[in-house]
Amino acid sequence: MSVIRAVPIGTGHYLPERIVENVEFEAKVDTTDEWIRSRSGIERRHFAAEGELTSDLAIAAANNALKNAGITADQIDAIVLATSTPDQTFPSTATKVQAALGMRHGFAFDVQAVCAGFAYALVTANSLIVSGQAKRIMVIGAETFSRIMDWTDRTTSVLFGDGAGALILEAQDGTGANTDRGILACDLHSDGTYNDLLYVDGGVSSTQTTGVLRMQGQEVFKHAVSKLAACGEAVMEKAGLTSDDINWVVPHQANLRIIKRTAQKLGLPMERIVVTVQDHGNTSAASIPLALSVACQKGTIKQGELLLTEAIGGGLAWGAVVLRW
Ligand code: UT7
Repeated sequence: MSVIRAVPIGTGHYLPERIVENVEFEAKVDTTDEWIRSRSGIERRHFAAEGELTSDLAIAAANNALKNAGITADQIDAIVLATSTPDQTFPSTATKVQAALGMRHGFAFDVQAVCAGFAYALVTANSLIVSGQAKRIMVIGAETFSRIMDWTDRTTSVLFGDGAGALILEAQDGTGANTDRGILACDLHSDGTYNDLLYVDGGVSSTQTTGVLRMQGQEVFKHAVSKLAACGEAVMEKAGLTSDDINWVVPHQANLRIIKRTAQKLGLPMERIVVTVQDHGNTSAASIPLALSVACQKGTIKQGELLLTEAIGGGLAWGAVVLRW
């Protein structure tokens, strides 16, 4: 059976210049480098400069992905951008990227599923490609979470960072078997009864302010491990695969302990997990494409290998995708 597959053809990322080491927080809140490292695995993160916008990070990542794929923006039909920290309430940050890339054709829009945003954007882009609405899509995750931190709250301010990653997907013919390259299976979930575990305490229709991030970390941690393991299992089963088949897991980079426990539940050794949380912190929707791009740049991920990506965040919203690189 001939099917259309959404196949990755290029990745790129961008991290703001300013690197903030854990020790910098010791002067701001009651914390230590040791606590941050041991509880989260984070050692440093990047923060955007004053006036540097989410779209600026996204544009840089998109240009790097175009270069990596060896194509130009006129060969892209659509941009799907995952963010919870857009430049403005509207228009979408995706249309700002579209304009900056010099695209007057196609369409661009944002997806908002917080830390699960890139998984949701991938699934959306896959559907657009499989249904024949676009041949090549730029999928971006871009965030400036440093803009929504409460700098007096030690339980959240030490965890997040800024950055952007991009992945270009292209429609290619497949056989329908799991030996095809491209996206093989997707599994998305959300449960809004958990809204109060991770949220921003402001917004357009409620306070007319941006608000700052609030999180019940321990609760989110418990949900993260069980839900990521369950949807990881589910997506592998949908693809007709087991953990033995997976070459690389590219998880959302929130906490090294969550990554380790989830890997353990899925029966995957840490040697097969891509970990960047130590250098990026939690960059929400940008974390997976950032990790993907860094791993590709290092030559870690090779064409033909099987990848599992999974993410969870505010909503709660979570999801997983299996693809062959
Ligand atoms: O990306 C979206 C999804 N988000 C996540 O996946 C985050 C999930 N949660 C986590 O990663 C972890 O729960 C945290 C890293 C946020 C916290 O780690 P934890 O091991 O769950 O710590 P905890 O919240 O149970 O706090 C332990 C102690 C508390 O003190 P007491 O009550 O035991 O005296 C906290 O007040 O650590 C204290 N604490 C800190 N101490 C030093 C909390 N934050 C800090 C800090 N420095 N920055």
